[in-house]
Amino acid sequence: MHPRADQFQHWLTDYGRFREFRCAPYDNGGCAAYHVMAPLLHQLGGFVSFESYGPALRQVLNSRRTNGSQSSIMVAGIASEESARSLLSVLESLTVSNEVEFVDHCQTPLFRIRTMLEDTNYTTRIHTTVGDFLGDHAPTRRYDIVLADSLLRQFQPQEKVQVIQRLAQHLEPKTGMLLFREYVGRNELLLADLWQKLESYPSVLRWKSSVRNDAVAAFDRLYPELQRYMCAKGGSYNTLEDLKRDIRQGGLAEVETHDLSPQCQLVTCRRRIPTHEE
Ligand SMILES: C[S@@+](CC[C@H](N)C(=O)[O-])C[C@H]1O[C@@H](n2cnc3c(N)ncnc32)[C@H](O)[C@@H]1O
Repeated sequence: MHPRADQFQHWLTDYGRFREFRCAPYDNGGCAAYHVMAPLLHQLGGFVSFESYGPALRQVLNSRRTNGSQSSIMVAGIASEESARSLLSVLESLTVSNEVEFVDHCQTPLFRIRTMLEDTNYTTRIHTTVGDFLGDHAPTRRYDIVLADSLLRQFQPQEKVQVIQRLAQHLEPKTGMLLFREYVGRNELLLADLWQKLESYPSVLRWKSSVRNDAVAAFDRLYPELQRYMCAKGGSYNTLEDLKRDIRQGGLAEVETHDLSPQCQLVTCRRRIPTHEE
């Protein structure tokens, strides 16, 4: 069997299992195709995984830990249980167990995470919450770390600062850290890279008799919907400076920037103490 074929088969089984759910009745901005395909996109390398920047993440988590105490982490936006698994594997490799809350405005990824947790044991304490960072999602508690992984690109340019401000409200005022991992570059070129990556796999698999036709048909049907959804989003920042400007306008101060790749940056921030003039 082609090494990717079993992933594809697995996705089909899963797709059948979750199809009825399909983000209904919310389908925020047409996210159904995105959320149903997200585990596959993750497995096919379409997303940057938390594990791929695990060393940078571990460094941040360890740097803010005092006396070995655990951290509370809010993950703002999570695509699927595959992404959750990838983050949890980084957290579980730390010597101290942590507490994580996954927040998304769509039920589907949260439901999928809860289903995944039924068969898995983690020492991390895990919660899932439906919340809209542009709507009325207000903090009910403060977190040591807020992780916004490829979240800002979901919003239109005029909305991004508002979302940053909202995320900042979830931080422990003095010690909390906010981590943004964002793609930087022209959105249409970044998306073209993604389409190229995604299209090559099914076209290889289509020639393998071991892959069921209905898996390929499901992919073919959902793919244009996925493209529509992702193209309708606000998109990436053109430059790192643009991202940093919004971070400052959102009331945060940059602590450190990690170059994960030429097109991918991790910026860690704290809340800014307002000066007398502000
Ligand atoms: C790009 S994905 C997260 C990617 C993340 N790196 C991962 O692998 O899970 C962004 C997520 O943000 C969610 N999202 C978009 N707009 C939102 C909003 N206004 N409030 C809360 N979640 C939102 C989407 O439903 C999606 O699951």
